[in-house]
Amino acid sequence: MSSPHTPSPHMLSQPSLHRPDGASPLSPRLPPPLSRATVITTLRAAGCVFAEDEAELLISTAHTADGLAAMVERRVLGLPLEHVVGWAEFHGLRVTVDPGVFVPRRRTEFLVGQAIGLGRRTAARTGRPTVVVDLCCGSGAVGAALAAALDRVELYAADIEPAAVRCARRNVTAAGGEVYEGDLFEALPTGLRGRIDVLVANVPYVPTHEVGLLPPEAREHEPRVALDGGADGLDVLRRVTAAAPQWLAPGGHLLVETSERQAPQAVETFTRNGLLPRVATSDELYATVIIGTRPAPGEDEATACPPPHAP
Ligand SMILES: C[S@@+](CC[C@H](N)C(=O)[O-])C[C@H]1O[C@@H](n2cnc3c(N)ncnc32)[C@H](O)[C@@H]1O
Repeated sequence: MSSPHTPSPHMLSQPSLHRPDGASPLSPRLPPPLSRATVITTLRAAGCVFAEDEAELLISTAHTADGLAAMVERRVLGLPLEHVVGWAEFHGLRVTVDPGVFVPRRRTEFLVGQAIGLGRRTAARTGRPTVVVDLCCGSGAVGAALAAALDRVELYAADIEPAAVRCARRNVTAAGGEVYEGDLFEALPTGLRGRIDVLVANVPYVPTHEVGLLPPEAREHEPRVALDGGADGLDVLRRVTAAAPQWLAPGGHLLVETSERQAPQAVETFTRNGLLPRVATSDELYATVIIGTRPAPGEDEATACPPPHAP
């Protein structure tokens, strides 16, 4: 956990490197040791919006003068701050984020909050550990945050990207979970079929034609498979939603993040696959989450997935 007074990549980045031309800047090749003022000036010249705070973070993270110079150089080259320092702050945790792995976004903390509410309710109903699966786990930030917040969980995570799986193993194993590599549900142990209480899937949902409009930090340093959701951005969501009812426990919940614009289509997909849908939004985090519940026997639409604060 980072101190509240130490700048964290979470508050600085996503993205904080702003080049008016959208291009990655050239490496400055500065000789160490770098003074604080030089670090700030260099970062500012590269387009870092929060140059002072970023400088503070890099200086406090680097172990040596050479290490600091290398970090500044990588940041100036356009790497996301989280990849430079090797971690992101997410839902109060310090999560390891390796180069080439999707950087967990602040807005996804809203999905985590929704999942925590549902996980707690499930635990109260069943009296057993909650079975949580973080599909498309990336760094495993979502699963790790759920394990930290829920009392007793059986945690599984999976991703198709080997780099993400390696990274998630560090975050999720530390939280008592297991990480698998493969295409969506194919990666999971078959014994999980029909047993998952809370299935979180922050799938890629950027429409293909919009990937090129993302900030360079994302489009050049995060894998395309983590961003590109197909023509309308909903290809992976549709695949997850189609298979989810076979994997969810009766009364279990699927939570997926979308854009506000995609929500009506996503809801339709949930309904078509027999999940009872609800849309949760946060204006503050600019987040939209679709929650689908597999009805338990005898349960109707009104009771399947009440909002978190319903009595
Ligand atoms: C938007 S990122 C989310 C990562 C993480 N859940 C988070 O919120 O930080 C989407 C992730 O889905 C993974 N992914 C994309 N297609 C997949 C597939 N068919 N099966 C498993 N994982 C997939 C990507 O590798 C990437 O790590």
